[in-house]
Parts: sequence; structure tokens; C-alpha cells
Amino acid sequence: MRILVTGAAGFIGSNLVHLLRRQRPNWDLRVLDLLTYAGHAANLEPHLADGSVELQVGDVADPEAVEKALEGCDLVVHLAAESHVDRSILGSAAFVRTNVVGTHTLLEAARRRDLPMVLVSTDEVYGDLGPNDPAFTETHNIQPSSPYSASKAGADHLAQSFVRTFGMDVRITRCSNNYGPRQFPEKLIPLMIGRIARGQPCPVYGDGQQIRDWIHVEDHNEAVLAVIERGRAGEVYNLGGECELTNLQVLEGIGEVLGEKPLLEFVKDRPGHDRRYAMNGAKIAAELGWRPRLNWADGLAQTVAWYRQQEPWLESIRSGSYQDYLQANYGAR
Ligand SMILES: NC(=O)c1ccc[n+]([C@@H]2O[C@H](COP(=O)([O-])OP(=O)(O)OC[C@H]3O[C@@H](n4cnc5c(N)ncnc54)[C@H](O)[C@@H]3O)[C@@H](O)[C@H]2O)c1
Repeated sequence: MRILVTGAAGFIGSNLVHLLRRQRPNWDLRVLDLLTYAGHAANLEPHLADGSVELQVGDVADPEAVEKALEGCDLVVHLAAESHVDRSILGSAAFVRTNVVGTHTLLEAARRRDLPMVLVSTDEVYGDLGPNDPAFTETHNIQPSSPYSASKAGADHLAQSFVRTFGMDVRITRCSNNYGPRQFPEKLIPLMIGRIARGQPCPVYGDGQQIRDWIHVEDHNEAVLAVIERGRAGEVYNLGGECELTNLQVLEGIGEVLGEKPLLEFVKDRPGHDRRYAMNGAKIAAELGWRPRLNWADGLAQTVAWYRQQEPWLESIRSGSYQDYLQANYGAR
């Protein structure tokens, strides 16, 4: 079996490739990735060097690149995306192009070849919940809040329309917030690991009481593998880590692992900031027998240890355009 994984030079996709190499060594893996600021070919090593994974550098919104990437494939796992909410507030055009146009380009090409697709969507398409609301189920209204989540909702809706209109085999996963190795350090957990370890102030949006459901990337990717192998065509699967924490609790947790007290700096909240996400994973548990395995304390300790050993990787990313983004996002708050 040959699988095309889009966006696998990024965080979740690279971890998926490593998991598939370990657990399904007979599968051929090809990656299509534009290597944007968030994508690093090094994330796929040692598999590029030993030839066990093929990387094609290209844009999911470019029909020619997509045609070439799909050649000889049996299934597509689509993760390529612009993925950061704050960046979508600073400028949303790239989100519409990659997440909506890119997904449409891939859907069209896969449909012509009669290829099944697993679309990695997100819990953020549902919008947010009040403190006492029940967790999102797959039938909850889609009500995105940010340009990022709206573009992901566009991709998700397009995929569902291809199921209904063309009978295409698309399976959709909607997962909560991931953490783990190789996440770009603009995201909350790696950003704060670096800041707390260096004794720098930690910017906290608003009151810091926003709740996210955290899942280790390895658990997420185990679910993606279950959906590749046993997911039903046209179905949506919600999944989460069964671990709801406020952003302040996340910072405290990192501080405990590092043995440092975070220096909190409360800053202006993110516009339109979702208050709470929570996922009901009953469907995927019942149908595919999947549940998250790694608990928060162990997963966080492993993640902190990984980042503490990756100074050269982090240093190469912290310079250049990443500094421009930090200034644009946090400088004016
Ligand atoms: N990170 C999370 O917590 C989370 C949770 C649920 C769902 N998701 C979804 O999972 C997927 C992966 O997220 P991530 O956190 O690994 O993101 P990421 O930003 O770390 O990686 C995205 C990858 O996509 C590539 N890419 C961007 N634009 C592209 C284009 N036009 N053509 C080809 N490649 C392109 C980038 O180079 C990068 O390698 C996304 O679809 C995201 O919406 C993420």
C-alpha cells in the first residue's frame, strides 16, 4: 500500500510518518509539503536519508503538484494546512488558499482517481462551549470563530459535499489540541517551555481561563491509523485527550516539570477567542476501539524533555521570520 501524507514536514504529519514507519513498515510513504515556515524536512529524518520516505516539495493548491504526488497512491491522509489561529488573525489569505483551495484541489484529484482520503479536521470547526455544556459530538453545529477555523470548516464541508454528491470515500477526524515533539514553537506548549526554561515572562491571553482538551500527538496519530484501516467511508470521528485544562493550568504544569515558577504577564486577549473546547469520543471508541492512552503528566514530562534536548532545532527556528511574527503578534499587546 502506498500512502500520500500531505503536510508531513510539520508537527502532526511528521509524527504520523514516524509512527507508520514503526507500525506499518511495509507501507510506502510519500509526503507532499510546501515546506512553509512550519515545515522542516529534518522532521522526517532518518527516513528521507535512508530512502524509506519520499518527499515531494509542492503546494496542495497546485493541481500539477497534486497530480504528480498522487501517482501510484492508494490512499491520502490530508494534513497540510496553515494551522495557527493567531497568524490567521494577522492575515487570512494564505489560510483560504491552502486550507480551502488546497483541500478542494486534492479532493478533485483524488475523486478522479477514485482514491479514499482521510481529512484531518479539527475540534475548532464547532466554535466554543460554555463551562457546563456537554462535549461536542459529531452532529454538533459547525460554527467556527476564527479565520483559521472557518477555513478548516470550509475544507470539512467540501469533503462532506464530495461524500454526498459524488459518493467519494472521505473520512474526517476532528481532534482537539495536540502536544508533543516537533511542534513549531509559536504554539502554546513549546512557546511556554522555552520561556519558562529561560526565566522569561509568559504572555497569557486575557484571564488565562480558556479551556482546551489536550491530547498527545501519538494518541491522535493512533486514531488516524485506526481510521485509515477501519474507518467507514463518509464518517466523521471526534477525538480528544479526555484532558480539559485551562491555559493557566498548562503553564503551571510546565513549570512543575521544569522546577520553575512561570512569570505570568497578562496581555490583551485574542480577538474572538474561544472559551472552551471538549470532545465526546464515544463514537470512535465504540466503532474503532480507540481511546487516548497517554496521560497528561507523562506526556508533558516527555514533551518537555524532548524540547530541552533540541536546542539546535529550536535555535534555527527562533531566528529570522519567526522573530518578525512574534513582534507582530505580541509586540502591540
Ligand atoms: N496542532 C493541533 O493541535 C491540531 C489539532 C487538530 C487538527 N489539526 C490539524 O492537523 C493538521 C496538521 O497540523 P500541525 O499542527 O501539524 O500543523 P503544522 O503547521 O505544524 O504543519 C503544517 C504543514 O503543512 C505544510 N503546508 C502548509 N501549507 C501548505 C501547502 N499549501 N501545500 C503543502 N504543504 C503545506 C507546512 O509546510 C507544514 O509542514 C492541520 O490540518 C491542522 O488543522 C491540528
